[in-house]
Amino acid sequence: MLLHVVKDYEAMSREAARLVADRLRSKPSLVLGLATGSTPLGVYRELIRMHIEEGLDFSKVTTFNLDEYVGLPPQHEQSYHHFMDEAFFRHVNVDRRYVHIPDGMASDIEGFCDWYEEEIRRHGGIDVQILGIGANGHIAFNEPGSSLGSRTRIKTLTERTIRDNARFFNSAEEVPRYAITMGIGTVMDARELVLLATGVEKAEAVRAAVEGPITAMVPASILQMHRRAYVIVDEAAASRLSCQYVRELTGLPTTEPRLRR
Ligand code: GLP
Repeated sequence: MLLHVVKDYEAMSREAARLVADRLRSKPSLVLGLATGSTPLGVYRELIRMHIEEGLDFSKVTTFNLDEYVGLPPQHEQSYHHFMDEAFFRHVNVDRRYVHIPDGMASDIEGFCDWYEEEIRRHGGIDVQILGIGANGHIAFNEPGSSLGSRTRIKTLTERTIRDNARFFNSAEEVPRYAITMGIGTVMDARELVLLATGVEKAEAVRAAVEGPITAMVPASILQMHRRAYVIVDEAAASRLSCQYVRELTGLPTTEPRLRR
């Protein structure tokens, strides 16, 4: 795990976008794992800027999104299909034929999940997977207690996640109770992981993921076992980390990941 503490949200977004752009330039047919939530929005904005101003080319990229709510059609404003369109896809030259997002309306959910896994394999696996983190330590929709070896499947959302995500809906009652999500094992198979966290609300989750024991109760803690997991967090999200040297290093220019954990 490479922990990288940067000053603020903008710096976090730039750093992650730079990493993705770098990998994309060396492999135009990159297989990119994408995440939703408010955290990666700045990364998408920066990648869009690079596309417009620097000609960053997404035409050969294949994408796989982490998750989708069960029961929301793609046109629903809170579906992750809609989110990805608005936040990213419609602003860059991604070929829609190469876009994959779990189908929350699938009638055979289990069959769909198996197909999704197979499709990732067929494309040679995910090169770079972007991840956010839930306040309870979840990644994608792998809630605490998820098996660390799990594959794409349906999961029940916890009350905490429903409450956290209710801000995007009119009320908590409207938040779907189930989601299709890549499993923790699926995420761990990606060649590189980029986990992002911003703000003090994520500080405890980041501490548990980075310094705590590896446990299914903090799904993100499994990233400690990944050889190329970059954890890029701002100072607020790093504020509960106990290592003194993390704080000493913040504020320095941020070109290289700084801490090998
Ligand atoms: C949802 C998503 C996760 C995301 C999390 C945090 O639960 N399924 O992939 O990491 O929210 O969202 P935010 O970045 O808005 O805090």
